[in-house]
Amino acid sequence: MKKLYVKTYGCQMNVYDSARMADLLAPLGYGPTETVEDADMVILNTCHIREKAAEKVYSELGKLRQLKEARGGAMTIAVAGCVAQAEGQEIIARQNAVDLVIGPQSYHRLPEMIARLARQGGHALQTDFPAVAKFDSLPEPESGAAPSSFLTVQEGCDKFCTFCVVPYTRGAEYSRPVAEILREAAILCGKGAREIVLLGQNVNAYRGQGPDGEIWSLARLIAALADIDGIARLRYTTSHPRDMREDLIRAHRNIEKLMPYLHLPVQSGSDKVLGAMNRRHGREDYLRLIERIRTARPDIAISGDFIVGFPGETDHDFRDTLALVREVRYAQAFSFKYSARPGTPAAAARKQIPDAMKDARLQELQALLSEQQDMFNAACEGRVLPVLFEKPGRKKGQALGRTPYLQPVHADGAERLIGRIAEVRIEAALPNSLKGVLLQKEAELI
Ligand code: 5AD
Ligand code: SF4
Repeated sequence: MKKLYVKTYGCQMNVYDSARMADLLAPLGYGPTETVEDADMVILNTCHIREKAAEKVYSELGKLRQLKEARGGAMTIAVAGCVAQAEGQEIIARQNAVDLVIGPQSYHRLPEMIARLARQGGHALQTDFPAVAKFDSLPEPESGAAPSSFLTVQEGCDKFCTFCVVPYTRGAEYSRPVAEILREAAILCGKGAREIVLLGQNVNAYRGQGPDGEIWSLARLIAALADIDGIARLRYTTSHPRDMREDLIRAHRNIEKLMPYLHLPVQSGSDKVLGAMNRRHGREDYLRLIERIRTARPDIAISGDFIVGFPGETDHDFRDTLALVREVRYAQAFSFKYSARPGTPAAAARKQIPDAMKDARLQELQALLSEQQDMFNAACEGRVLPVLFEKPGRKKGQALGRTPYLQPVHADGAERLIGRIAEVRIEAALPNSLKGVLLQKEAELI
């Protein structure tokens, strides 16, 4: 058995793609290893979203080159994902130890590329956006499924926010057909998944071909998935405010299996900055949307993404972002310093913000967001919540799970808890997780 080591950077879609690449290589005799030192094949599944993420790849490649040399060249190094798509040939020019470069739309061609490499040696590069969707050529998942499993339903983006590389690395919006998704969900479920997280760069823009010949919305897809008995929970991420349609909002009221959590990035609270970002919505649009969602599902946990230091952002604009955050009250959020990405319109803007100012703004925003997160978590103390246990906790005898609001919870309980949903009383909100006590006896769990 040959050994495959995959290192994943970036978003959940990359996590999904990494698992599919491992599935693809299994018939070629590759099995997973956790230690890079004894790998015959190493895949770095990369992210290009910010400069830091992209640069990490080159430092990792430097280390891999040494390992490869120490083994007399007996190691195949592949760079997959969004850096592969964005930089292509450049990667091989910068690091000659790389054998394969493969973009996120073409990894179904990995077996063919590996065979070509074995025949001819040299380097192989594949960064086309092929007409045949990669999903058509993927084998069934090989291994067991995680209690909470990802399922990519949509890829790509047509929105062209001026800061973002995604439309260039992942291409135009594409939605997988409904039947294919239902089949994959049933397979995941049969292999132990209790929760399915539907993934897409613009997941709520989903418009897939239904078995009835109609185009289905994400809400309709969620309703059909909720009819699969073994699926207990459904989530979706990431959404764009512009695509948050009435039927999806209603689904949060009507579909019990759809969890009360919504990741809805706004990026900025200033209308001027939102305009310059080409977000195609204003501050008030977002706030009104949140109101409508909360009317449908009052307890919903709202999460978001923010960028500070976008070109031209004044102190006043930044104050508008803080004010928006105060108004929304986030349960959880991610925030980043603006990073100029080659080829995107904002990278060419004249009024770039000095790094020290970005740092100061990020700190202030993160302090506010983490205060809000603490408040949201503290409000759960004393409540009894159903927790889906996903894996062993850090301490022996503990299991780690998630509440409907996606908060991590650890509770004492044997590994038998994993893959089950149990009622847990939240005893304390700690900085990074909740501490809970199992209410049912383990023997009573279904
Ligand atoms: N700089 C900083 N953050 C970015 N994001 C996307 N592009 C950039 C960039 N150039 C952030 C956005 C997005 C999240 C996935 O990453 O907040 O929602
Ligand atoms: Fe990173 Fe975006 Fe590619 Fe995901 S899609 S890996 S976030 S660049």
